[in-house]
Amino acid sequence: MMMILEAKNPHFLLQSTKPPNDKTHSNKHKRKSIPSVTVCQCLLRNSDAGKLVHEFDPKVPVEKAVTPPSSWYTDPSFFQEELERVFYRGWQAVGCIEHIKDPGDFFTGRLGDVEFLICRDEKGNIRAFHNVCRHHASLLVSSGTAHKASCFVCPYHAWTYGLDGQLLKATRITGIQNFNVKDFGLVPIKVATWGPFVLLNLDKEISWHEADINTVASEWLGSCSEILSTNGVDSSLSYVCRREYTIECNWKVFCDNYLDGGYHVPYAHKGLASGLQLQSYSTKMYEKVSIQSCEGGSMDRKDDYDRLGSKALYAFIYPNFMINRYGPWMDTNLVLPLGPRKCQVVFDYFLEASLKRKHFGDKSAQCELHA
Ligand code: FES
Repeated sequence: MMMILEAKNPHFLLQSTKPPNDKTHSNKHKRKSIPSVTVCQCLLRNSDAGKLVHEFDPKVPVEKAVTPPSSWYTDPSFFQEELERVFYRGWQAVGCIEHIKDPGDFFTGRLGDVEFLICRDEKGNIRAFHNVCRHHASLLVSSGTAHKASCFVCPYHAWTYGLDGQLLKATRITGIQNFNVKDFGLVPIKVATWGPFVLLNLDKEISWHEADINTVASEWLGSCSEILSTNGVDSSLSYVCRREYTIECNWKVFCDNYLDGGYHVPYAHKGLASGLQLQSYSTKMYEKVSIQSCEGGSMDRKDDYDRLGSKALYAFIYPNFMINRYGPWMDTNLVLPLGPRKCQVVFDYFLEASLKRKHFGDKSAQCELHA
C-alpha cells in the first residue's frame, strides 16, 4: 500500500525527497524537489487535457450553447487535470466540526490522491496532516478505526506521532547520524473552519499562514459569507447524522443535477415539488457560489419535521459542496471525486438545537427519518 501511495501522489514524492539535513518544511523547497519524471508526466497530462478543453468554446452565446463534450466526464487525463487545478487549489469542505469536538477526536478522508487526517490536539487546536507515515509512507490511520486517540501509531513499524503531528517515537532507530525526530513530524495541511464546516487547502503556491476566519470566508465564499449566515447557515444547528453513497458517475454529474435550477424537480421529485411554489424558484450567481431559493407551499404540512418551512435555500459552493437550508433542517452534500466515472456523496444532516434535543437527545441519530 505504501508504494502505491507514493507513486500516485506527487505531493508525497515531494516529502520523501527532502534532504536529511534540511530542517525547513517550506513548500518552496518541496516544489523544487519534484523529480524530473514527475514534471514530464505533468506536461504530458496538460497536453492531453488541454486538447479536451479546446474542444469547448465558452464564448458561444447561451442560445447557441451546447453541453460540454462527454470526454470531460470520462477522460482520465481530464480528471487528473481537475484534481490539480480544482481540488488541489483553494479551500475545500471536507467535514464537520462535530466530528472533532474534543481533544483527541479525529477523522480521516481522501481528496483526489491525497489522504488526510484531521484532529483536535490537547490544546484544542484543529490540526490537519497528510495521513502518511514519514518512515516508509504507510497510510498512518485507516478509515474506520476508532475516532478518538491520544497519539497515532503507524501500523507498519510503529512510529508514533502526537496529536500536534510531532514524531514522538521512531521505533528502534538509534545511532543514525543526522536523524532527529523533530525533522520527521507529519506533513501539515492548511486547515480552517467556517460555521459548522471544516475546510482544507492543499494549495502549495500560497504561503503558510494562520488561517484568519475573514480571509477564509472571503476566499471560500466570496461575498456570500454573510448571505449564508443571515439565512441560517451557522454553528447554532445541531448535528444529527451522516449518510454516504458511492455513485458510478463523474462527480460533475451530481453537481450538474443540483445546478439545473429546479428543472428536474417537478418530474423527478414530485413529493418535494408539491411543497414548493415553483413559480417563485430563483437562481442567483455569485463569484464562487450559486444560490437557488424557493418559497414553501401549503402551511398545512407544518410540524416539527417540516422539511421546507416557508422558504428553502440551496447553495452550491464551488466546486463540490452544497448546503440545503429548509425549515428547521439543514443538510449538506459533499461530492468527492473517486475517479473519472466514480464519486462518493456524503450527506450530513443538521437540525435546530431544541428539536434535536427533543427528538434525538444529545447523541447523533440514525438517518431513518430521511430515507
Ligand atoms: S512506515 Fe510507518 S513506521 Fe514504518
